[in-house]
Amino acid sequence: MEYNVIKNADKIVSSCPYVVNDPIKYKNKWSDFFGNKNPIYVELGMGRGDFIINMAKTYPMINFVGIEYIDSQMVMAVDRLKSLNLKNLKLINCDARMLDQIFGKEIDTIYLTFCDPWPKPIDEKKRFTHESYLRLYDKVFKKNKHIILKTDNKGFFAYSLETLSKYWYVFHRVSLDLHHDENPIKNIMTDFEKKYFEEGRPIYYVDAIFEG
Ligand SMILES: C[S@@+](CC[C@H](N)C(=O)[O-])C[C@H]1O[C@@H](n2cnc3c(N)ncnc32)[C@H](O)[C@@H]1O
Repeated sequence: MEYNVIKNADKIVSSCPYVVNDPIKYKNKWSDFFGNKNPIYVELGMGRGDFIINMAKTYPMINFVGIEYIDSQMVMAVDRLKSLNLKNLKLINCDARMLDQIFGKEIDTIYLTFCDPWPKPIDEKKRFTHESYLRLYDKVFKKNKHIILKTDNKGFFAYSLETLSKYWYVFHRVSLDLHHDENPIKNIMTDFEKKYFEEGRPIYYVDAIFEG
């Protein structure tokens, strides 16, 4: 996927008070950093950030961290945050592969929302549900492992159900059409999700748990 480049995006992002510019410093200290022992939920590839910002507004007793490696994508989140004062939200501009350098066993839930599906077999290792990523998540989950995934991409969804189940995750909830499910699932839409929802495309959803 290609994204627009915004001039001075790096400066705009790094000067935002919500952005943690030296996240490695806080490994094993995130509770101290947030100033409470509330659970920590992380979104990988948060893009423009609507989801993580609204989650932080809706659930003040949860600490949220949004990770995104394209600074031009984060500029919109930075802009949206200007008029807000959220104590339970931090953003990090880095590659998701750095997760274990930034966190010890501190994370309760990881959100994988409309991640790039990397459909070519040669790119399989870049998929956020590739086994190498599942191993990476093992290093940062507190005790139980909990992944919530949403996507519009059927192939990526099928692939993810397979890798997660091979890795002993159990599916707490699965939906093949999140917005029209018979048993409604509490949901906050992401930027991409809003677009796909308006286009009438089904959204695939899985809430996967491994109890340690
Ligand atoms: C399709 S967008 C989805 C954005 C957002 N989650 C949403 O649903 O609106 C995927 C995002 O993941 C980011 N991304 C992809 N690979 C990444 C990686 N390894 N580390 C951090 N961000 C990544 C991309 O830059 C992009 O912003």
